[in-house]
Formats: sequence, C-alpha cells, structure tokens
Amino acid sequence: MTTASAPGKVYLFGEHAVVYGEPAVPCAIEKRATVTAEKRDDDHIRVEAADLSLNGFVVEYAGSTANRPDVDVPQPLLEAAMGYIDAAVQQARQAAGVPDAGFDITVESEIPLGAGLGSSAAVVVAGIDAATRALGEPLERTELAERAYRAEYDVQDGQASRADTFCSTMGGAVRVAGEDCTRLSTPTLPLVVGFDGGAGDTGKLVAGVRKLREQYSFAADTLEAIGDIVSTGEQLLADADPNAPPSDELIAELGDLMNINHGLLSALGVSSRSLDTMVWAAREAGAEGAKLTGAGGGGCIVALDQSDETETSLQYTPGCENTFRAALAEEGVRVEDV
Ligand code: MEV
Repeated sequence: MTTASAPGKVYLFGEHAVVYGEPAVPCAIEKRATVTAEKRDDDHIRVEAADLSLNGFVVEYAGSTANRPDVDVPQPLLEAAMGYIDAAVQQARQAAGVPDAGFDITVESEIPLGAGLGSSAAVVVAGIDAATRALGEPLERTELAERAYRAEYDVQDGQASRADTFCSTMGGAVRVAGEDCTRLSTPTLPLVVGFDGGAGDTGKLVAGVRKLREQYSFAADTLEAIGDIVSTGEQLLADADPNAPPSDELIAELGDLMNINHGLLSALGVSSRSLDTMVWAAREAGAEGAKLTGAGGGGCIVALDQSDETETSLQYTPGCENTFRAALAEEGVRVEDV
C-alpha cells in the first residue's frame, strides 16, 4: 500500500492562453489531494473518496469506477472526478507494464472539485505516483508529470496544457509554455483565495474560448495579450530577490498585471457574476490585484494583499463561501507515511 499527495495551485497569470502555447505561471499551494493505492489480486478497481473539502466544505462518496457512486455531488463533477482516476490508473498500468493491475484506491482531498485550484491535476499526479509505487515501479518526476498531462489530455478531449500537472508534480511557482516547463524562484507572495462554492466545466470553458479564437482574430489577439502579460510578470519575478520579502512596487506591478489578466479572461467569457463580485470585493478592500484562477465559470479567485483586509472583506461578501490565505507549496508530489 502506498500513499502519495500532491498540491493544488492558483494561476498568477496565463490560464486559457497556455492551451495555445502562450506562457503561464501557476503556483502550487498548500491544499493537497492524497491518494492511497493498494494492489489487488484481481484486475478490479475500487475507488473510495472522502473529504473532498475546503475548510469545512465536505462532500463524501464511495464506490467503484464501474459502479458509479450515488452521492450528493453534481453528477458531472463526479463523472469528471472518476474519469480522472480512471485515466490515472491507465497511465500507471501502462508505465509499470502491468495492463491488468487491479487496485483499491482511496482519495482524500482538501481541494474542491472544478473550482480552479487544480483538484484534477493533484488527484491524477498523486494517483499515478501511488499506483506505480504500489506496483514497485516508481516514476521519475518528469515522467510522472508527462503521464499526468496525458491523463488530463485524454479526459479533457485534448484540451489541456501541461501547466496544472507540471505545477502539481514539481511544486513551487512554475513557468509553462507548450512543452517547455521550468520551476521559478520567486519571493513569497501574499496570496488570498476566495471561493464561491461553485465549479466550472473546464472542457466546456476551454471549448468556448477555442470557438471565439477561431471566429474572431481579436479573440486570438486577446489570448496573445495574456501571453504578453505573463512575459512581463515573469520578468518582474525573475528580477526580484527570491530570498527577500517582495517589495511594495513588485506587489503593485504584479497586481496591475493580474487585474488586466482578469479583464481579458472576462472578455473571453470565462468569468462569472460571483467571480467578478469577489474580484471587486478584494480590490475595494485594498488588494493590489485580483483575478479568477483556473478555467473560470465559478470557483475561485486569487488576490494579492499583504494585509488581512481582503480576507476579512471576502468573509462578508455575499456569494463568497470561503476564503483563506494560500501558502506556496514548495514541495510537489510526495510519499506520505500512513
Ligand atoms: C485549467 O486549470 C487551466 C486551463 O488553462 C486549461 C489547461 O491549461 O489545461 C483553462
């Protein structure tokens, strides 16, 4: 039996545009998905998932991928979660060269499903790691990240970038542009997350942006402009001392870039009323910048604020179900002692 965990993430900049080869900078955060895999004597897969929670928001389900569990979670989310677990098992079987390996799998997660915090990537990364280790064939991190990407790519009908899976595997802040994935050294950023309790459908949202990009040259230009924001932001991060607290100027400039990035995502139709409400609540509370994170449509925003004002304001913002300060997770996937 092996247990592995992997972190969720927020996007400082660049979601959606990264699907078309533009750079993106996601940051791993200390909210983790934990997967335990135990090899079975037959070729069955049994999945039990509990505590898909975020600071008190809990959904519970148990069942097998063949026998869909009956639980109080919207069915599309549940289908998506089970699809990611299936895909992770296929990758682990293939990597270990044991195509009919069976597993008992347990998933516990602090990351809400489909909320822009990279729950699927964290489950896939931890799942492949736990399952390959249970078969006695642990993978190098680069291969693990690549296989996790392929699992997401399959589930999302080819509409996935390497950003979520690479970040979850490696931890820290990373830069992803197409196949070019690197870890960045950044100062500790004062990240605050707001969660509206909802979720977006990544596949549909990515498909919507793709349609706009094909139909209108200015939508394609908008995605390129997001890439320019990311390039500017990563240069600011590269010029900063990673061992010193971030300067006020750096936070202010990163905040401006986040605000513009949110506006462009909104123009592409992937924001929502509740995400915009939280973004404005954060800005009015004094956050230097705020934007949606992940695919959008509902879920989470991320703001930059050194003070407690954004968190306090979000606690009282109608439509915001939860808010927390997100610490950067320096460690990516790791084996857990149980
Ligand atoms: C979803 O977390 C991020 C998107 O850019 C899709 C992807 O990169 O695979 C919307």
